[in-house]
Amino acid sequence: MEIKTPYYLVEERLLRRNLSLIRDVAEKSGAEVILAFKAFALWRTFPIFREYISHTTASSPYEARLAMEEFGSPAHTYSPAYTEEDMPTILRCSSHVTFNSLSQLRRFRPMVEDYNREHPEKPVSCGLRVNPEYSEIETELYNPCAPGSRFGVLAGDINSSLFTPFPTDGRLPIAFHSSLPIEGFHCHNHCESSAEALQRSLQHLEEKFGQWLPRLKWLNLGGGHLMTRQDYNVPLLIQLIQDLRRRYPNLRIILEPGSAFAWQTGPLVSSVVDIVENHGIRTAILDVSFTCHMPDCLEMPYQPVVRGAQIVEDSESHLSPLTSTGWVATAVSRGTSWARGTSTTTCRWGRRSSSRI
Ligand SMILES: Cc1ncc(COP(=O)(O)O)c(C=O)c1O
Repeated sequence: MEIKTPYYLVEERLLRRNLSLIRDVAEKSGAEVILAFKAFALWRTFPIFREYISHTTASSPYEARLAMEEFGSPAHTYSPAYTEEDMPTILRCSSHVTFNSLSQLRRFRPMVEDYNREHPEKPVSCGLRVNPEYSEIETELYNPCAPGSRFGVLAGDINSSLFTPFPTDGRLPIAFHSSLPIEGFHCHNHCESSAEALQRSLQHLEEKFGQWLPRLKWLNLGGGHLMTRQDYNVPLLIQLIQDLRRRYPNLRIILEPGSAFAWQTGPLVSSVVDIVENHGIRTAILDVSFTCHMPDCLEMPYQPVVRGAQIVEDSESHLSPLTSTGWVATAVSRGTSWARGTSTTTCRWGRRSSSRI
C-alpha cells in the first residue's frame, strides 16, 4: 500500500520485541511498568499494548480520557499543576493522582475526598511528587532536579501529617486536617538513563525520603528507564527493584517509561522534495521539519539516524563541501528520517548541519 509521506511507521515486530522485554522485567522484578503517553500515544497500537501491560500514565485531562476510553483502564495521573476545571475529568479517569506541590495538594485534596466518598467502589489514591535533588541528566532543560526546578516537593518540606488519615494531636496545620492520607511518592529524575543511574538515584531518594517510605503504599519511579536499549543492564534493574521491595515490602513499585516502549520501533518516513546546492553544499529539502515532527531534536538536541545513510565528518572550513556527493538537510527540513526510493542510497547526513538550525 502506498502511503503519502510524511508518516510515522510503527513496525509491529519491533514494538512487540520491546513490549516482551518490558513485560519480562515487570514479571521478574515485581514492579508494574506502565506506558507514559508523553512519549507514545498512538492509540491504534493500544490493543497490542494491552497484551503486555495494563496501565498508562497521563498528564492532562485528555490523556486521562485516552487512558480510560481508548486504553481501557484508569490512568496514573501526574501534572505539574491542575485546575478546578481539570479535576472532575482527571478523577473520573484516574486510579492514582499525584500532586506536584503542597499547595496543589491543599487545594485539591477536598475534591478528591468528596470524589472518593461518592465513589467508594473506585477511590483515587493520592500521591506527591518528590524531588531527590539528584539527577544525572546533563541537559539542564531536561533536568527536573536542577536548582530552582518546579518539579516536586523537597525533603525538608515533608511533614508527618501528610500521611496521617486523621489529625491526632490537634496541633496540625489546618490545611492538613484531612481524612485522605498521601499513599504514594512519585519521583521522576531520569532520561534515557541506565540501571546504574537508577542505583545511584535510589541511594539519594532513600537518604532524603527513606523515613516516609514505610508509611506508603506505592512508589512511582517515573520514566527515563531505557531498558530496551541494547546496552541496558536489565538484570541490574530487576535486582534493584527486587531489593527495594525486600526493604519496603509495603510498597508497590511502579515504573512509567515512555521512550523504552517506542525505542527504535520504526522510522519517520519522508520524501526528498528537492536538492539544492550552494558553495558546494548539497542540501536535501524534505517534507518534514524538526519543529513539527521532531521537536525533541531541537531541545535536547538529538541527531536523527537516517536509515541507509552514513555520517560525514565535519570538514575544516565552515562552508566547504561535506563530500562531493554528500547532502545536508536544510534548516527548515532537517527532519530527514528515511529518504525513500532511489534517494536512500545516496543520502548523506552532515554532522555540521545539526549546528545550523
Ligand atoms: C513524569 C514523567 N514520567 C514519565 C516520563 C517518560 O519518560 P521517558 O519517555 O524518558 O521514559 C516523563 C518524560 O518527560 C515524565 O516527565
